[in-house]
Amino acid sequence: MDDAAHDMSLYSGRPSGLIGQQIAGYRIEREIGRGGMAVVYRAKDLRLERTVALKLLAPELARNDTFRRRFTHESRVAAAIDHPHIVPVFEAGETDGVLYIAMRYVSGQDLRHLLDREGPLPVGTAVRIAAQVASALDAAHNHGLVHRDVKPGNILVAAGTDSDHPEHVYLTDFGLTKKSLSLTGFTSVGQFVGTLDYVAPEQISGRPVDGRCDVYSFACVVHEILTGKPPFQRDDDMALLWAHQYDQPPPLTDKRPDLTAAADGVLAKALAKSPDDRYGSCLAFVAALRTAVTGGAGHGHPPTQVNLRAVEAPEHPGPPPEPPAWARPVFRS
Ligand SMILES: Nc1ncnc2c1ncn2[C@@H]1O[C@H](COP(=O)(O)OP(=O)(O)OP(=O)(O)O)[C@@H](O)[C@H]1O
Ligand SMILES: [Mg+2]
Repeated sequence: MDDAAHDMSLYSGRPSGLIGQQIAGYRIEREIGRGGMAVVYRAKDLRLERTVALKLLAPELARNDTFRRRFTHESRVAAAIDHPHIVPVFEAGETDGVLYIAMRYVSGQDLRHLLDREGPLPVGTAVRIAAQVASALDAAHNHGLVHRDVKPGNILVAAGTDSDHPEHVYLTDFGLTKKSLSLTGFTSVGQFVGTLDYVAPEQISGRPVDGRCDVYSFACVVHEILTGKPPFQRDDDMALLWAHQYDQPPPLTDKRPDLTAAADGVLAKALAKSPDDRYGSCLAFVAALRTAVTGGAGHGHPPTQVNLRAVEAPEHPGPPPEPPAWARPVFRS
């Protein structure tokens, strides 16, 4: 029975409240993490017996008509984009007043955790991660979808396929930001939702946004990947908003003397206050960055690997269980 949706322990700070319960055909196994407006669980899709990440959105969002409309529209568009660096959405809907999204479970960690643990990443790793995020964002923009909330917490980093591709990066959470509903993302009760570290000047001033606002936020993320900190850090939110609007970003080379002035120029353009002055696409930005950091020649040495160890250990190590009788091979030696 889907009684879990009625259980408002979702936001009561009792994370274990839903464990073992069923909601919309998914059995909740454990909490993966929570942000300002949702809790993400690892869950089992009971129809297909597959593991998914199930995101349950805060009940107050379901009551906001603008959010609901965007949620429905953007989860459809996001689900329609078949891209190797966008987390596939399996289903999005509503059950008993709770909006939910079921998506591929990505085993790994988000870039927020990776940066907190590792600090600034090697240049090669930074460019590889950036290129994957850029291809995902450009694909979304080509579908007319603006992400609006590009930040390390929405970039999932899993192990890659081989030593030439040590990490596989997924972008997630399209259109799931509250920031564009109210200027700074304050809820009706005045609690702040989300971070202002990556917000573009045109989002702050309430002008219409297009893909170039993602270029700006993405450039803030790239700055952080390379230096360990986003470009603007201020003691209070108002000062931070002001800095995004009017202050010049500090050069990368302040913190990364191994980089060149050319790389500073690339970041300055991607972080331009006016969208017209930025790169026209995220991949154009990354291409310019790659040229600036490598002289266009590539590194000539094998990729450096950061520790991508999944936070959790596999639950069932060892050989897979014996198949049922009907699935055993017909011919045995
Ligand atoms: N598909 C997924 N597979 C595995 N883990 C995921 C998946 N989607 C999200 N997560 C994890 O769930 C956690 C919570 O995500 P959530 O989107 O709620 O928060 P956030 O992005 O950190 O913050 P915000 O509320 O501002 O979006 C994140 O730490 C993320 O790593
Ligand atoms: Mg998120």
